[in-house]
Amino acid sequence: MVRNVCVLGATGMVGQRFIQLLSQVPDFNIVNVAASEKSAGKRYEDAVTWHQTTPIPEEVRDMRIVNTNPDEISDDVDFVFASLPAQLAEPVEAAFAEKYIVASNASVNRMKENIPLVIPEVNPEHLEMMELQKDINGWDGCIVTNPNCSTIALTLTLKPLFDKYTFKRVSVTTMQAVSGAGYNGVPSMGIVDNLIPYIGGEEEKMQSETLHLLGKVNGGLVDRANFPLSASCNRVAVVDGHTESVSIEFEEDITVDDIEKTLSEFRGLPQERNLSFAPKQPVIVRKEEDRPQPRMDRDAGHGMSVSVGRVREDVFDNSFKYTLVGHNTIRGAAGASILNAQLISELYL
Ligand SMILES: NC(=O)c1ccc[n+]([C@@H]2O[C@H](COP(=O)([O-])OP(=O)(O)OC[C@H]3O[C@@H](n4cnc5c(N)ncnc54)[C@H](OP(=O)(O)O)[C@@H]3O)[C@@H](O)[C@H]2O)c1
Repeated sequence: MVRNVCVLGATGMVGQRFIQLLSQVPDFNIVNVAASEKSAGKRYEDAVTWHQTTPIPEEVRDMRIVNTNPDEISDDVDFVFASLPAQLAEPVEAAFAEKYIVASNASVNRMKENIPLVIPEVNPEHLEMMELQKDINGWDGCIVTNPNCSTIALTLTLKPLFDKYTFKRVSVTTMQAVSGAGYNGVPSMGIVDNLIPYIGGEEEKMQSETLHLLGKVNGGLVDRANFPLSASCNRVAVVDGHTESVSIEFEEDITVDDIEKTLSEFRGLPQERNLSFAPKQPVIVRKEEDRPQPRMDRDAGHGMSVSVGRVREDVFDNSFKYTLVGHNTIRGAAGASILNAQLISELYL
């Protein structure tokens, strides 16, 4: 069944990805695009500074941008895809949730009681919180969030290992693309020929969101997974695609083959249900000694697969290291919300 959708923040980095990706998925029909007051009333093409490598989709090019106000969007919208600046997201998403299902990219609602934070292959059962959220707030709609871009890629690789083995500790060092900060986020004079060893709040988000995603729902709350997880986050001069170096110490005595096999064989509910936006393989294991690389591997599975390589023993007991690459604005943002919406559509509507 085709679902009508609206995109909030439609002119931004993530908003443009929504427009590009949604136009390629036949189950979704874009009926409204919204942005700030400065863009409202303009044709989409005139308001946006388009940065995607495919042209603006025909069906959106002439659309008039509306204000970010629930009264300005069509009544027959099924999903509102939101990619709003963090400071706006809390009140605006709540206002839209009175009537619509909001698929949110902002961090502000991710850890709240009754609001599911979901990766469809990892914790689809957390979506059961949607009903409670509607009842408690007296809303017809609800808010469903997807994690931070670097957390999504990491957690997709941890999930199959976590289900099979016991982690003594996990540490991760990221090398994150500039698109993750939005178009105006990182000035070129700051990042070209450089690396910035700080991304505000990112390390805390990775540490808390990962444990939350691997936790169990208990009413409107989540009992988080319990293992030490340490993140160090860096911004690098790559346009798209986050790279992460992961190190895990296990309780069990396992091998590189065990890890590679577990990651390659991993499938989740979206694959079982054959959702059209789901990659065939959520995690792809590469054997070359110099892969994955962001430019070569970010588009794996149409940007929805995470590529893992260099799985190897570490010098400490029962410890292993690997490198991963995930597309931050596809699997890490717009694509994550779209897959959440496809799963909700399949299971709940
Ligand atoms: N980039 C990523 O990889 C990524 C990944 C995960 C999550 N996120 C999150 O997604 C959100 C959006 O990020 P982004 O990178 O797309 O940011 P961005 O490129 O700066 O885009 C911001 C969007 O919000 C709109 N906007 C700004 N002020 C507004 C207002 N007062 N009222 C209504 N709309 C307003 C802008 O419209 P105008 O063009 O009209 O100003 C634009 O469409 C953020 O919360 C971010 O943390 C981003």
